[in-house]
Amino acid sequence: MSNYFALSHGAVSLRIIKPRDAKTIERLVLSNREWLRPWEATNPHGPTSFDFRNQIRGLLRQMDDHSGLPFVILYEDEIVGQLNVANILHGSVSSCVIGYWIDPDVAGLGITPIAVALAMDYLFNIVGLHRVEIDIRPENKASIRVVEKLGMRLEGVKKGYIHINNDWRDHNIYALLSNEVSDGVLNRLLKSRHK
Ligand SMILES: CC(C)(COP(=O)(O)OP(=O)(O)OC[C@H]1O[C@@H](n2cnc3c(N)ncnc32)[C@H](O)[C@@H]1OP(=O)(O)O)[C@@H](O)C(=O)NCCC(=O)NCCS
Repeated sequence: MSNYFALSHGAVSLRIIKPRDAKTIERLVLSNREWLRPWEATNPHGPTSFDFRNQIRGLLRQMDDHSGLPFVILYEDEIVGQLNVANILHGSVSSCVIGYWIDPDVAGLGITPIAVALAMDYLFNIVGLHRVEIDIRPENKASIRVVEKLGMRLEGVKKGYIHINNDWRDHNIYALLSNEVSDGVLNRLLKSRHK
């Protein structure tokens, strides 16, 4: 898969992360600790690493073995966050999990729902996946609004699923199947906004 493709709608776009994005990501993550900390995965066995260049290399290795797609989210051509597609399984499961975060300076503009819709249409139509999952702490009202806008289904709860902010946290499971959105996820999102 080429590292040089981009997906876009209006001022929002997604492209694969590059090692040279490390400085920008570091600046955004470190200057927004209070915003990100309640939702950010932590290491249950010790301190969490902030070596962003190393993290990006790890994400790109997942892309090389077809198990991940690490995107940055751009708004008006500036990096404003990350959207990471992980745990891609092909064949009879054909599914993946999406995670995301955005700079609070541009929160509330509807950037993340568009970014997730662009990624999902790519995953369903180009990669050929059948199911996309997003797992969210029940306390994360903003993120739950994102999956509601995308029409994702609540499937249940994973108890103590991810180590976040220094403890094992329950997550709501939201999912969408490709055959539930035959006219495209972005299309459906844009139509629902005009109702
Ligand atoms: C969750 C998140 C990605 C949403 O991104 P976004 O681009 O702001 O999404 P939207 O513009 O659709 O806003 C979603 C909801 O956020 C809330 N919101 C809006 N403006 C906000 C602001 N300035 N600050 C905080 N929350 C705000 C609203 O409830 C909004 O829902 P509404 O449009 O029905 O009013 C973003 O809040 C974020 O990065 N949070 C921290 C990291 C995180 O939670 N990641 C997800 C882990 S599952």
